[in-house]
Amino acid sequence: MKISIISVFPELYTSFLNTSLLKRAQESGYISVTTDSFFSYVAPKERIDAPTFGHGAGMLIKPEVVEKGIHSLEEKNGKAFKVFFSPHGKKLDQDYLTQLAKQVQAAGHLMLIPARYEGMDARVEAEYADAVVSVGDFVLMGGDVPAMMLLEGLLRFVPGIVGKQESVEKDSFSGPFVDYPEYTEPVEWHGKQVPEVIRSGNHAAMDAWRSEQAAKRTLIHHFDWLRSYPLNSEQKKVVQAVMPSHYVALCHSEVLIGKDKQVGTTSVTSIDIHDIARSSRTYGIKNYFIVTPLLDQQRIVQTLLDFWHTDSGITYNQSRHEALRPVEIKDDITQAVAAIESLEGKKPLVIATSARSVGHVKQISFHDQGIIWEQERPVLFVFGTGKGFSEEFLQQCDYLLLPVGGFSDFNHLSVRSAVAIILDRWMGLIAKKP
Ligand SMILES: C[S@@+](CC[C@H](N)C(=O)[O-])C[C@H]1O[C@@H](n2cnc3c(N)ncnc32)[C@H](O)[C@@H]1O
Repeated sequence: MKISIISVFPELYTSFLNTSLLKRAQESGYISVTTDSFFSYVAPKERIDAPTFGHGAGMLIKPEVVEKGIHSLEEKNGKAFKVFFSPHGKKLDQDYLTQLAKQVQAAGHLMLIPARYEGMDARVEAEYADAVVSVGDFVLMGGDVPAMMLLEGLLRFVPGIVGKQESVEKDSFSGPFVDYPEYTEPVEWHGKQVPEVIRSGNHAAMDAWRSEQAAKRTLIHHFDWLRSYPLNSEQKKVVQAVMPSHYVALCHSEVLIGKDKQVGTTSVTSIDIHDIARSSRTYGIKNYFIVTPLLDQQRIVQTLLDFWHTDSGITYNQSRHEALRPVEIKDDITQAVAAIESLEGKKPLVIATSARSVGHVKQISFHDQGIIWEQERPVLFVFGTGKGFSEEFLQQCDYLLLPVGGFSDFNHLSVRSAVAIILDRWMGLIAKKP
């Protein structure tokens, strides 16, 4: 494969290309690399850049300089797959890398065109880019490090360049999980032992341990990758086994009611019992607690549950029976917490939800699952009825989740809609196309 690089600083690539696997790849003839300077395409003392139009400081690489470079290198090496680099480009991940690797291999000639200064005139990208790559949501001084990153990522796909093809196929992000932790000698270092299981010689136990560790790491640090992967049922089971248990409580007390928003108690509604039970079952919630201190309200719920928990309900609608099976009635949240603690042997972290933006020392968002899950404690989401939880109750909870919402300023979801949205955002799968 031919690789051409045009840069403001081609000298940056000298040691990069003359080290380790990249050096060997060139010596073995897998790749041949040409590095070139944008300055080769202007007359001596002529500038390659010019100030941006409009207000705002900064210099841009001129389009005709880039164009001359592209034409010259394509004349020598044939038509190329041309990659530009910019924070506004498509974010690089292993899926995108795989897709690019196929396109580059088909083209046989890869051209990397990293920018400097404020970037390049936008028209040159529109005219020539086959791909505009971003390496993340941050800004670097130039596109050379992104170009090197892309090259290292792409060349791992070329058979022969990386010694063991097996490691490419099994590494992090080749499937839904990142790699498991690995250890070498010494067995004890700074008081830390290499886990017994991987020294035991029991391959089945070691594989099970590795798969569990890989799933745990992915869950805590790369959940968005994990949930966007089209998981099979075996992989889903592995994740379920390491994800802490989640519970839901719908509270009819400790909530604000009436026009003057006093703390009071609301009535149960059968639609909330049904719909939240169905959402809970869909997202793997272990138990759904209906919390009300009022005995007559508890009786109403119990009558409904009795129907669905027994033969007539099962015959009438099996899946509804299944959804309502883990529903339990509790007097207050303390009872629900105690029930979870006796089941799990650990107190749950109580995460309150609110439609109002309320200050809380431990406010969390839908990007913070890792903070919760790494504590390895069960999780109880509490949802309020009426006009939402009282401020006092919210402050007693371990965490407060930021409200859900869209781009409009209307925010009056029913509690059952809020439960469905929150569970989906928190732990739902959002698989990309298989
Ligand atoms: C200082 S940056 C220009 C930043 C640009 N004005 C902006 O705000 O998006 C100069 C060049 O570095 C490269 N670069 C910087 N950050 C990058 C990133 N996250 N991914 C890919 N390239 C990047 C691009 O080639 C970019 O044109």
